[in-house]
Amino acid sequence: MIFETIIFAFIAIGIAIYYNKCWLCEIKYYIIGFIYHLHDIFSIRHNKIELLSKPNKIAIVTGGSRGIGMEVVKKLLQCDMEVIIACRTINTGENLILEMRKSGITSGRAKVYKLDNTSLKSVREFATKIKADYDKIHILINNAGIMFPSKYNKTEDGYEEQWTVNYLSHFLLTSLLLPLLKVGGNPGECSRIVNVTSCAHDISTIDFDYIINCSEKTFCKHASYGQSKLAQTMFTIILQRLLNEKSLNILVYAVHPGIVRTDLFKNTLIGNNKWMMAAWKTPDKGATPIVYATVSTDIETKGGIYISNCRELAVPSLALDKEIQKQLFELSLKQVHLENFFQYL
Ligand SMILES: NC(=O)c1ccc[n+]([C@@H]2O[C@H](COP(=O)([O-])OP(=O)(O)OC[C@H]3O[C@@H](n4cnc5c(N)ncnc54)[C@H](OP(=O)(O)O)[C@@H]3O)[C@@H](O)[C@H]2O)c1
Repeated sequence: MIFETIIFAFIAIGIAIYYNKCWLCEIKYYIIGFIYHLHDIFSIRHNKIELLSKPNKIAIVTGGSRGIGMEVVKKLLQCDMEVIIACRTINTGENLILEMRKSGITSGRAKVYKLDNTSLKSVREFATKIKADYDKIHILINNAGIMFPSKYNKTEDGYEEQWTVNYLSHFLLTSLLLPLLKVGGNPGECSRIVNVTSCAHDISTIDFDYIINCSEKTFCKHASYGQSKLAQTMFTIILQRLLNEKSLNILVYAVHPGIVRTDLFKNTLIGNNKWMMAAWKTPDKGATPIVYATVSTDIETKGGIYISNCRELAVPSLALDKEIQKQLFELSLKQVHLENFFQYL
């Protein structure tokens, strides 16, 4: 299977060079994807989690009705948690709950709330409803994501779609829900925020000009996806520092789920070749490191880290650049129209 993957990678690279205007980015994606796929294979024995009973915990999973998010929801229900599935179509979420119950997952409680990450208004409405129904939450999993849309799309707020769905909406959502996360955490057991990032952050940069002025003309789907994921990783690091300064009992983690066979790849060459993806992680295995970051006691004192296959990995050096972190945080506040990230506390 490794030999076939290498052959396919070479063919894909050739086609990418021939047809694609941002072919260099695409090549980088094939290389990093392949390296992390090997990391998945060699780390298989570490990618495990014990599902302990946590009956009093309340968790929110964005993008929880499909793909990796759906498997995260299943595992959290198996931990007997109350799980809020945040998704675009209420029906899909409700059908999922019925299917999970039929499949024999009887523990935990599941609810569905509407959230569309392309709209900051929808994020605010979602947070308002959650605050009306709950006085605390213990876990926020920022998982919803899209990759490589076939064309440039601008959201109603005026930003590029991947930037908004993957990063900016989660940035706003986290700020809005901080008061509930604060109540949910205590010194013995902190509440947790898990940002589902990607190994794509390793080959990405934060280009502020590109982010601010992104248009149909300058758009590169690969650069946009990578930037949104690097921003999620940097947000994890910055936020943990700020939470520590405020002595809040909240931990933040960035998690790469692995190279996982899901619809995320539907706009890629490889995503149309099911046999090529056969050796990749299943969504269930992709959910494992996310659930690890959500419940494992091994990392209770280690917030602000990046996790892959249930182990800490080094972040790209750019993610540690304090000046870029500061600029990114300020730009994000401006784009979501917040004066202060902690203004709702
Ligand atoms: N698969 C991988 O190999 C891989 C690798 C690294 C990182 N990741 C990350 O893992 C996360 C989950 O990806 P996946 O592989 O499970 O992809 P997926 O199967 O395509 O699922 C994506 C999820 O995000 C939701 N979503 C998309 N657009 C949304 C929007 N505008 N508002 C709210 N929800 C939205 C989808 O909901 P709908 O049903 O409403 O579309 C779906 O639940 C993503 O953040 C992705 O970047 C995946």
